[in-house]
Amino acid sequence: MAETQERFNPADANQLTRQYLDSFLLEMRQIDADLPDTSLQLYGHSFRTPIMMAALSHLNNCWPDGMVEMARGAAAAGAVMWSGMGDDDELSRICDTGAKTIKIIKPYQDEDLLLHKIRHAERCGCIAVGIDIDHAFGHKGGYDNVLGYPMTPKSAQRLADFVRSTSLPFVIKGVLSVQDALKCADIGVKGIVVSHHHGIMPYAVPPLMVLPKIAQAVGKRMPIFVDCGLSSGMDAFKCLAFGATAVSVGRKIMEYLQKDGAKGVEQGVEELTAQLSVAMARTGSHSVGTIDPGVLWRKDW
Ligand SMILES: Cc1cc2nc3c(=O)[nH]c(=O)nc-3n(C[C@H](O)[C@H](O)[C@H](O)COP(=O)(O)O)c2cc1C
Repeated sequence: MAETQERFNPADANQLTRQYLDSFLLEMRQIDADLPDTSLQLYGHSFRTPIMMAALSHLNNCWPDGMVEMARGAAAAGAVMWSGMGDDDELSRICDTGAKTIKIIKPYQDEDLLLHKIRHAERCGCIAVGIDIDHAFGHKGGYDNVLGYPMTPKSAQRLADFVRSTSLPFVIKGVLSVQDALKCADIGVKGIVVSHHHGIMPYAVPPLMVLPKIAQAVGKRMPIFVDCGLSSGMDAFKCLAFGATAVSVGRKIMEYLQKDGAKGVEQGVEELTAQLSVAMARTGSHSVGTIDPGVLWRKDW
């Protein structure tokens, strides 16, 4: 028989994350239940679903002009679009699709470039802007360098300067501890993405595992987003139940993009939202912000 299963590597954060997501089961609460409201209110805008694109980049090998095509799909599905590394022209064209977009900028050492990109996101009409702080360090013990651009870690004080530099809500992506979440809240950050950037560090804790502690510490001070390894509406449900405001899906949505462009992305978001809707209906969860974490059971056998 052909070997189809990936060998388990105990250091692989992606595998650990998948295992942890799968370790939660759902009870059913169907008396007094009804079809749920899956809409999301975020930064003054309404969306049909809490399932968002992830902050991706460089998708031209998935589909011609892949990021812009993904934006078309997100707009059609009524979902939040996120954009990662990319040039100014690409962001302009992403926003021109009508997709409500959150721009995530790399932690460039060149802070004039970083500020320039914040200004450009404002001009494009992005609904929020931010930095993926988890790209400061590379894999060889030094600072990272992405496509020739040197990166540096950012202090809380420097991040506070960026937060103050814009009227847009500022988002920090790559938070994986209560400590960083509280630092973000203290400097006026308006959203965090609980993420290990698809396994950027061995043994990184699964985002879902640290999420309840972060949600408890941060309270209602800002929206909390989650990504990494989410591939179904059930995964999204578990994150929402543990305190996420909304979730981002990257590699799974890329599969739909690769298959059928914007139409595929729209269909993918709708499929995942339908799965979420099933889980919400059967657990008596009426809206995305009111899911009782008590419906989740940790599998202990
Ligand atoms: C092709 C690709 C490009 C990415 N580019 C960026 C980026 O430019 N900025 C960023 O913050 N994250 C980037 N990410 C990370 C995603 O935003 C996300 O954190 C990660 O893929 C985990 O989500 P997933 O498991 O659903 O893919 C990228 C991921 C992929 C797969």
